Amino acid sequence: MSTLLIGSTGYIGKIFADKLDNHEALSYKDVSVQSLLNKFTSMQFDNIINCAGFVGRPSVDAVENHKEEAVHGNIILPSILVEFGNIIKNVKILHVSTGCCFDSTEPLDESVSPNLDWNSKSKCNFYAGTKSMSEKIVARFPQHYICRLRMPFDNKDGDRNLISKLLKYENVLSVKNSLTHRGEFVDACLHLLENECEYGIYNIVNSGAITSQRIIELASKYAPSLVENTPVKRFYENIDEFYKKVNCGPRSNCILSNKKILDAGFEMRGVEDALIDSLKNWQ
Ligand SMILES: NC(=O)c1ccc[n+]([C@@H]2O[C@H](COP(=O)([O-])OP(=O)(O)OC[C@H]3O[C@@H](n4cnc5c(N)ncnc54)[C@H](OP(=O)(O)O)[C@@H]3O)[C@@H](O)[C@H]2O)c1
Repeated sequence: MSTLLIGSTGYIGKIFADKLDNHEALSYKDVSVQSLLNKFTSMQFDNIINCAGFVGRPSVDAVENHKEEAVHGNIILPSILVEFGNIIKNVKILHVSTGCCFDSTEPLDESVSPNLDWNSKSKCNFYAGTKSMSEKIVARFPQHYICRLRMPFDNKDGDRNLISKLLKYENVLSVKNSLTHRGEFVDACLHLLENECEYGIYNIVNSGAITSQRIIELASKYAPSLVENTPVKRFYENIDEFYKKVNCGPRSNCILSNKKILDAGFEMRGVEDALIDSLKNWQ
């Protein structure tokens, strides 16, 4: 299986680059229909994996002040890939998407469209708007996998790891959410490609859902040295109270069903098991 990997420098892309034996990386800055035609003339690729995107740092709020980058990265880039795919046809596109396009307290499966988009009644941040749009665009190419991850974590400390983020915060909203172990996400995506699973959208989240308060409890139990000297937490169990006290834009909270990826033959660990394993092996 040979792959053209776009976004190989990112938090998610790096793991694809580590796990893919046969791939070539292409920066998002160099993507055009013509550059892709040139690449595919010199080498044949079975897949394009798109893990480039504009996500905002330090948080999604930053996207509100960088809308052009978000439109470019999250809408125009996937449009180019789809235009190219529709020209050459003999390729699969795997697009990394997000659960941030959803708001739910009960598990949603893939038959439900994003409910945080520019048409929805709920307030949606600009990032979610662009990512919802990207799903509509990629779905126009028949041989697609749209793979949604949600609040990634693993055992490596870093500013994108949910565990690291939660330990630093003082004010934490503690409602149930789905989460995704970063390595399992990439393995699940590769499973879809390698086994030629049915095309479509897949929610790739660990089984079950968990609150931030429970994650901190697990960290205190399984990695107490991590929690020492971190700020004392104030937990808000109610979204309205959180928004009143914390100065931030609209956030997504959601639970996604992972039945479809399980049925496709890929086992996802329970979310507590994956968190405990990450905490016990923290680096
Ligand atoms: N991290 C999360 O919490 C999370 C959660 C759910 C879904 N996702 C999705 O996962 C994908 C990858 O996110 P990530 O966390 O790996 O992000 P990241 O660490 O910020 O990496 C982003 C990647 O995209 C490239 N990029 C930067 N600005 C861009 C732009 N304006 N247009 C297009 N590409 C740009 C970067 O290239 P350079 O190195 O050249 O700048 C890098 O390769 C995104 O589609 C995101 O929506 C992420």
